[in-house]
Amino acid sequence: MCGIVGYVGPRPAADILLDGLRRLEYRGYDSAGLAIINGTGVQVQKAAGKLSVLTELIGNRKPKGTTGIGHTRWATHGAPNTSNAHPHTDGSGRIALIHNGIIENAGALKTVLLKRGHEFTSETDTEVLAHLVGEYYSGSLEQAVASALHDVDGAYGIAVVSADEPDVVVAARKGSPLLVGVGEGEWFVASDAAAILEHTRSVVYLDDGEMAVLSRDGYRIRNLAEDEVDKPVNQIDWDLATIERDGYEHFMLKEIFEQPESIADTMRGHLLDDEGSSRLHGLNLSDEELCQFERIVITACGTSWHAALIGEYLLEDLARMPTEVEYASEFRYRNPVIDDRTLVIAISQSGETADTLAAIKEAKSRGARTIGLVNVVGSTIAREVDGGLYLRAGPEIGVASTKAFTSQVTALALVALRLARLRGMSLEAGQAFIADLRALPRLVRVVLDRAEELEALADFFTGSTNALYLGRGVNFPVALEGALKMKEISYIHAEGYPAAEMKHGPIALIDENMPVVFIAPRDAVHSKIVSNIEEVKARGGRVIALISDGDDEIAKLADASFTIPMTNSALTPILTSVPLQLFAYYVAVRRECNVDQPRNLAKSVTVE
Ligand code: AGP
Repeated sequence: MCGIVGYVGPRPAADILLDGLRRLEYRGYDSAGLAIINGTGVQVQKAAGKLSVLTELIGNRKPKGTTGIGHTRWATHGAPNTSNAHPHTDGSGRIALIHNGIIENAGALKTVLLKRGHEFTSETDTEVLAHLVGEYYSGSLEQAVASALHDVDGAYGIAVVSADEPDVVVAARKGSPLLVGVGEGEWFVASDAAAILEHTRSVVYLDDGEMAVLSRDGYRIRNLAEDEVDKPVNQIDWDLATIERDGYEHFMLKEIFEQPESIADTMRGHLLDDEGSSRLHGLNLSDEELCQFERIVITACGTSWHAALIGEYLLEDLARMPTEVEYASEFRYRNPVIDDRTLVIAISQSGETADTLAAIKEAKSRGARTIGLVNVVGSTIAREVDGGLYLRAGPEIGVASTKAFTSQVTALALVALRLARLRGMSLEAGQAFIADLRALPRLVRVVLDRAEELEALADFFTGSTNALYLGRGVNFPVALEGALKMKEISYIHAEGYPAAEMKHGPIALIDENMPVVFIAPRDAVHSKIVSNIEEVKARGGRVIALISDGDDEIAKLADASFTIPMTNSALTPILTSVPLQLFAYYVAVRRECNVDQPRNLAKSVTVE
């Protein structure tokens, strides 16, 4: 995620800001920059790449000045280059701004500003906001920021400085964390306490809709309606390592719990309620072009391949589009039947997986159009495809993929919706699907709020060395993904299977030592899966079942169960995968495995 740090006080700002950004490196970023008020104006220095590139650029010519802001950018759109790096300035160059989040109406605001003669140098929504503040500035930075934010839709955490108010930093928050650090005669703003912990442990957390005005005399908190807001000063008692994991024991657990936000961010700005469809400009495909494809091939590896399998169900069920899924490592050597009427979708969290990259090149060499569903902006795969959709799930540090997976499924649902509405889905059905999508973050939160129930179920696997995961339909890929999570981090040999396949061999494995996890939400194949559970129970198997709220029938049959809320059956994988992520996590912790860096695994497999 992007990092913000700001300072007002008696000390030189440059080192304080650089040290603060260094503390935020763990969050993942691809460019960095500073803006310091140096007595004559705003001195902005920024660079793509790691912080070391910026510090090398600055060298020993550190800007003089005791007021400034600093930023590390994790690109959500717009390439990770120097011109897109923050801070961004307004047209006068006397106001500098840094921003975490996504301004959803940046395009409309930019159009108005362009008509007023503004010129832009970057592709970012942040620069639009900087120019908007400049447009409103008439002697009060605080007032200009408040006025600009009244025009903004979307999520932001910002910090702003002006050469005309050299001892002031204005900050504001809506949907992206921000806090004020209270020092001894000096004040800080940061997106994360890690950035300022060496200077103070006294912090004031901003809430959505609040602004902070820092000056030499102290700080004030207000809302956009100019009402003063009285906020408590909190004392941070975490150490730095704990802060970097936001208080969670592992990055994987933190990322599992980030999914309500990451799923919302994947959808943000893409849902068209009135049209009952999705807006996907990044695909670089017109509706006519989208309609001329005869089939879709989705190619990926690992967890991303499991998301691809779910995508096949979504695209065929909703859009009636013939779709097949290929392991990238197989696709690239298989002499596939691909031509210009094939749309190839590559899915990758890292955007650097060698097999997936090779599969895309193979597809392109045969005339296919390629799009990517990728998390890391500006990654190799993101630059190789003809268009795409960034997941915007934020950096995924844990090697075992969790929030990227649910964001991949969400992105596939957006693509399926767009295609479906072009290929016969009614407006009403499209609007109903959007309502189901919008409900997902809340429903995932409902599941996460009951995490301790899954921790209790971990006993089920104590002493187990094997396990079976079974599902049907769109939850068969969830069985594969749940088994992969368990394999990857607990080293238990777990296998995923279509539940109906049991009778073709795997049922020979069933005995009291083989835990069997059924993914069994109430859907069109519910009764079939009840029979499969009975088959396992009849042979002494132990059954854990993921079931829908109120499913007493399976609850009575299974040895243990965990309920999930009802949702659109095509979207149940997002709700059924989260408990399996947690389940694997708790079993791995019990087995004292290295959850964030499992043995033999890498976060990105950049070799064949
Ligand atoms: C998933 O938990 C694994 N880390 C692995 O299977 C991963 O999904 C696979 O290597 C693909 O990576 P990508 O999404 O970055 O391309």
